[in-house]
Amino acid sequence: MLAWYDDNKRDMPWRDCEDPYKTWISEIMLQQTRVDQATPYFNRFIEHFPDVYALAEADQQEVLKVWEGLGYYSRARNMHHAAKTVVKDFDGKIPDTEKEILELKGVGPYTASAVLSIAFAKPHAVVDGNVLRVLTRYLGIEDDIRSSSTKNTVQEAADELLDKERPGDFNQAVMELGATVCTPTNPDCSQCPLSSDCVAYSTLKTDSIPYKSPA
Ligand code: ADE
Repeated sequence: MLAWYDDNKRDMPWRDCEDPYKTWISEIMLQQTRVDQATPYFNRFIEHFPDVYALAEADQQEVLKVWEGLGYYSRARNMHHAAKTVVKDFDGKIPDTEKEILELKGVGPYTASAVLSIAFAKPHAVVDGNVLRVLTRYLGIEDDIRSSSTKNTVQEAADELLDKERPGDFNQAVMELGATVCTPTNPDCSQCPLSSDCVAYSTLKTDSIPYKSPA
């Protein structure tokens, strides 16, 4: 996975910058927005608010204005609130422990794991929709991905598979594979570094895994 990632990772303005603030902003944006859509908004956001102090000191209207177009405005309001918390309670530094980072408004388990692994190299595996698809196919998990027990199974598998030396790259590799190769329809298995061990591939089940029950 890491070799594939090193060869295939897309350039993204928040990658390889070693700024936890940028990692945090990008992961909030990427929760509901695809990479290519989020990128220009990310650049514009960072121009306006280059660090957590700039964001904390801005007024709400200005933050919402710069966010305009991305939707889900509660994300922007929560981020603004969280920036003030970081300045007030964490000396202007994005916290690097799970307990503390979860104190920030709008940061849930996914964002916490993403920031801790990418910005601080801590061994936390992320499970988003892309990871869920890659791992259910790879492991041949046919259970309903709506059920929390399936999600727990996948989280445990992700924790186990995680590369503890490069957890941030590993997480981004799985997300990237899901976004570009292991796509919901017509996955490009000929380009996949996991195909030789992938249960769904070898049993011709990429169409039926992941299984999601009707709402
Ligand atoms: N989706 C969410 N976070 C991502 C990241 N850091 N890289 C690629 N896709 C993502």
